[in-house]
Amino acid sequence: MLIFSIESSCDETAAAVVEVSSENGKTNYNILSNIVSSQIDIHKLYGGVVPEIASRAHADVISSVVDDAFQEAGLKPSDIDAVAVTFAPGLIGSLLVGVSFAKALASSLEIPLIPVNHIEAHAAAAYLENPELTPPLIALIVSGGHTSMYDVSDYTTFRVIGETRDDAAGEAFDKVGRVIGLSYPAGREMDRLAEIGLNGKDYNRIPLPSPAIPDKSLDFSFSGLKTAALNYVNNTKQSLKIPDGETLPQNIIENFAASFTQTVTEGICKKLSAALEEGKYSSLVFAGGVAANSHLRRAVASLCMDHGVNFYAPAVSLCGDNAAMVAAAGYHLLKKGVVAKSSLNAYASDEGAQRYMENFKL
Ligand code: KG4
Ligand code: ZN
Repeated sequence: MLIFSIESSCDETAAAVVEVSSENGKTNYNILSNIVSSQIDIHKLYGGVVPEIASRAHADVISSVVDDAFQEAGLKPSDIDAVAVTFAPGLIGSLLVGVSFAKALASSLEIPLIPVNHIEAHAAAAYLENPELTPPLIALIVSGGHTSMYDVSDYTTFRVIGETRDDAAGEAFDKVGRVIGLSYPAGREMDRLAEIGLNGKDYNRIPLPSPAIPDKSLDFSFSGLKTAALNYVNNTKQSLKIPDGETLPQNIIENFAASFTQTVTEGICKKLSAALEEGKYSSLVFAGGVAANSHLRRAVASLCMDHGVNFYAPAVSLCGDNAAMVAAAGYHLLKKGVVAKSSLNAYASDEGAQRYMENFKL
């Protein structure tokens, strides 16, 4: 079956064609095209995503991104069997561009339209390269908008077992990176600087508050860590008499990036370890934009090894927002009969997405 998919929940306009086939309970995914058009260069100027500009930028490029996806796959619209689209959660104006386009495409071709939850799509990215991977599993999704752990009992049943009560980890990386002079999104550069800091002979870890909430829950909080990190930067600038507009010396930045990254990594691993303690899971999926972080990735993989859990993380290129992951999630929804009506709308929150999905018996 050929699934065409669209993703436009935040600042990437993406379209893909994925050929999916199932045999003896095993599903194979063949990515025929996976086009991602990033708006980063536009939002960089403002230090973060500006929702209205994001919606307009999606409208500018969506037709050409869709054309490119067909062209790269060597297919035409009449070849495809279904259209999958991210309908929630995300920026409402951004989501609506993708949803409206997908509706028009599916209706003109008279083929099913599949509504996909963006977070569940991040988890499904791990299936693309690992046909042996099947639920039940635990999914740790860490992105610019989410830091959550899910009990995934089957392809379409996700139950939150732990989540952030305020900011997401990716958002903290971006905000903290900004005060040390990095451009948006800062996660990747923080990763690189942390590597240098950790390997430096003068590494001196700065004490920062853990994002693991000190209670029995599996929840996180990144706002305290974010504030403490911002205060550290401002206080250090003041004590070194660094003028406004100038940044800290490189060795201090590297030491800081390493300390921040270690604090995030240890906090996430603490709650993850508690989730794995019961021995309920044999596989873990680590996905979302921040799953590209080399330190966190190594730590989560090693924690899984300690607990005898199989570790799966999408390739770095499939961790960030893309449409191939939407097709993978969409395939399993379609198999369960999830087809949207022509009145499909977009929802900003995960709760909105959950309520909409109650229309289907999953
Ligand atoms: O999943 P994603 O592409 O978009 C959302 O759904 O939010 O995630 C984007 C986030 C950004 O905050 C970005 O800074 C972060 O992922 N990110 C990283 C790394 N690469 C991307 N954070 C830490 N280390 C990285 N290597
Ligand atoms: Zn995402």
